[in-house]
Formats: sequence, structure tokens, C-alpha cells
Amino acid sequence: MDKSIDDIRGEAIESLAAIVDSESLAEWRSHYLGRRGAVAVLFRQIGSIPAAERAEFGKRVNALRGELAGAFDERAALVESQRLARDLETDEIDITLPAHPRRRGGLHPSTRTHREFQTIWADMGFQVYRSREVEADDFNFSLLNLPPHHPARDMQDTFYTSDPRVLLRTHTSPGQIRAMRELGAGGSKPIRVILPGMCYRQEQVTARSEIQFTQVEGLAIGRNIRMSDLKGTIAEFARRMYQPDARVRFRASYFPFTEPSMEVDVECFLCGGKGCRVCKYSGWLEIAGSGMVHPDVLRNGGYDPAEWSGFAFGMGPERIAMLKHGIHDIRYFWGNDLRFLRQF
Ligand code: DAH
Repeated sequence: MDKSIDDIRGEAIESLAAIVDSESLAEWRSHYLGRRGAVAVLFRQIGSIPAAERAEFGKRVNALRGELAGAFDERAALVESQRLARDLETDEIDITLPAHPRRRGGLHPSTRTHREFQTIWADMGFQVYRSREVEADDFNFSLLNLPPHHPARDMQDTFYTSDPRVLLRTHTSPGQIRAMRELGAGGSKPIRVILPGMCYRQEQVTARSEIQFTQVEGLAIGRNIRMSDLKGTIAEFARRMYQPDARVRFRASYFPFTEPSMEVDVECFLCGGKGCRVCKYSGWLEIAGSGMVHPDVLRNGGYDPAEWSGFAFGMGPERIAMLKHGIHDIRYFWGNDLRFLRQF
């Protein structure tokens, strides 16, 4: 019996030393240490050993099991580290190979300008009101003081749907009526909103005009709003948008929905007012149409013009982005040319 324990040990240690892969390791373990393995067989023999030798025999089988298990762990660790070394050698990675370029998406230049606008106006207490792009003729024109056949309708050539009362809005101004009606609580509450969004005009597409473009409309209605509020607010916007000492000027103009109406120029932020190609050597850039909300428009929004007043303005973010980034052709904005878009 003693012989057999030593034989098993010798044979096991010898065969283990020759093992170099994990499958053979697993076989070896089940052969010697498994439930039906050699060591288990020895344990099963304990009952048939003469009583005087039984304790000694058991001890030795136990020792054998411990020894084999230890030898196994050692060998397994060695086999694993050899496998790793082999893998590193054969599966060598060339870290100097060029990687697949991964393009990051970017925000559309118009979206960027809109976000800048929104942040500035939000800081000044204006909330964003989203109005519809498919609009009723009434809202786009009549309620803004542009009755049918009004000559100013010609300023905005319109895309109509198959229903002549429904059109694609030509400006964001119709949102003024919707905002007043929805937020004004029957003409009893002051409001301060900006209305950003896409507008459409049936125009010849050129470097300077597109059939689609965005606007940011602004509207403030209150009990004591005066022209000085409009001027101060727009001047503050210009300082925040362009430069801290940006100057603005107001020129008398005409819009049917405001009285009086003004166009707003900001000192050219590229040349500082000295005159350059972008400002056509005038030193000024036009940034907005604006004015005091016409009494008829206030009434159409549910307000009594004897008690309420307000100012409004409309700006074109594309124009501003064009000036800022030196973009010479407005068609780039909606042309989906990735070479253009990737620059932002
Ligand atoms: N809706 C005008 C346009 O598209 C722009 C405009 C001018 C908006 C004056 C206004 C405003 O709110 O007061 O040409």
C-alpha cells in the first residue's frame, strides 16, 4: 500500500511537470484529484486497511492530496503565465497604425446662434415661446395689420398650402398674436417672450436670400412700456451679444404691426465702426426690425391699448452668423454640405 502512495505521487508529479496547456491540466486534475481520481480511490481503501495501520495510512493519503493540490496550483499558474507570454508575442498590436477617424457631430451654425440668443434673452427675463410654422393667413397677416390686398404683403412672397387660408409663416411675428392670446390671460397679464423659429418665403434663391431662414421675434407687453424700454433692451442685448461697449442706433422705418417702427443697427463688430468690407464701409450693421406694438395688434392679442403697451422686434440669426463667421452665401445654411457644416 505504501508503495502505491509513493508510486502515485511520483507518477503524478512527473506527468504534471510535462503539462503545458490548460486542457491537459484539467485532465490531470480529474485523473488524480477528481471524484473518481486516484486519491479518491486511496481514500476509499481506508476501510480495508488493518486497524493498526489505518490512521497512518489516512494521514499519508491526506498529505498526498495536499501535495498534489499545491503542485497543481503552481503548475496552473505557470501554464497561464506562459500562455500570456505566448499571446503577447503572437498577437502583437501595432500601436503606430492609424486609427479609424471618428467624426464628432457638431451644432449647426444657426442652432448655435439661436442658443446664444436664447441665453441672453433668458438672462434678461424673456421666456421662449414656440409658435407654429404652418400658420393661418389671419395670423400671419390680417391680425398683424396686413389686411388682404395690403401692399406690404408683397414684401413677403408667400408659400400657400392647397387651402389658401393656410400658409407657411413668412415671419415669426404671427407668434406675437398667439403668445398674447395664450399667455396674456385675456389681456390681463404682462408678457415677455422671444419666439425663435423657421420662416419661409417664395423668393429667388441667391447668395443673400433663401426660401427658408430663421428669425427670433421678441415681444414685451406691460402697463408702462415705452420706446425707451425698447431702446435700452436692444442696446443691452447688443452689448451682451457683440461686445461690452457695442453702440446701437435706431432708424425710423415702417412695419404695419408697429407704430412707430425702427430699424436697429449695431456698430460693426468686425472693424469697431471704422468701416470695412462687411459693413460696406458704413461702420454699422443692421440687426433688427422693431417698434412699439400697434394698438390694433394689441387689441387682436386681447389687450386694451388704452392701458397696455409693448414693444416688439425681429432679428435674423443667419445674417448675424454670416457676419460673424465671414460666410458669404446664405445657401450654405440649408444646403447640407458637410464640408460647410463640419467647420462648426
Ligand atoms: N416681421 C418682420 C419681418 O419679417 C420683422 C419685424 C420687424 C418684427 C419689426 C418685429 C418688428 O417684431 O417689430 O420682416
